[in-house]
Amino acid sequence: MKGRFITFEGSEGSGKSTQIGLVDRYLKRKGRKVLFLREPGATRISEQVRRILLDVGSAGMSDECETLLYMAARAQLVREKIIPALREGVVVLCDRFLDSTVAYQGYGNGVDIGWIKELGRFTTGGVTPDLTFFFDIDAKKGLGRIRRPKDRIERRSILYHDRVRTGYRTLARQEPGRIKLIKVDGNKEEIHLVVRKHIDSLLGL
Ligand SMILES: Nc1ncnc2c1ncn2[C@@H]1O[C@H](COP(=O)(O)OP(=O)(O)OP(=O)(O)O)[C@@H](O)[C@H]1O
Ligand SMILES: [Mg+2]
Repeated sequence: MKGRFITFEGSEGSGKSTQIGLVDRYLKRKGRKVLFLREPGATRISEQVRRILLDVGSAGMSDECETLLYMAARAQLVREKIIPALREGVVVLCDRFLDSTVAYQGYGNGVDIGWIKELGRFTTGGVTPDLTFFFDIDAKKGLGRIRRPKDRIERRSILYHDRVRTGYRTLARQEPGRIKLIKVDGNKEEIHLVVRKHIDSLLGL
């Protein structure tokens, strides 16, 4: 595939959307074709699945159902948007991807991680990010940054969110080539410069 696939991961309020926006602007300035996506969502079908997943009215959803719905939304996104864009040479930026399911449903809920990764290969058809940023923030600090009403997942306990963070850190240790752990102490521009260094190196800018 001619394009490049870059994902942005981390707990609530860690700065994913802020940094993805800065990268989007930077790459467009450099004349690159960029596609900016978010998970779960970014296709008509996947956005409908997102509503079910994040709705506080979905209380009582089983861990298994939750895992499969995230995968379902992702399967559609990969085939409808990501693969076609990568074939055309676009730089695809995605706010969350499979690592989120490993961190939230695996480390957070306790769903078997080996199984999530196996199902992940079916879901993604083997599409793997070329580069992943993990914005590492204290769970409480991150949640404290959110000003809007919290969704079903964000409402979970600090203990849950601590397990998610531990999960991300484990993934970053296991795959240091792909996953870059970014410390979030620093302002948006300082963090953007660190992010940009990795992007420049991947894209040869
Ligand atoms: N480096 C930073 N320093 C201080 N505040 C920041 C920084 N980066 C982002 N913020 C602020 O923190 C809040 C959360 O940032 P952002 O929405 O980018 O995070 P997110 O990881 O996308 O969160 P969400 O889980 O809600 O999607 C926003 O109000 C944003 O302006
Ligand atoms: Mg966001």
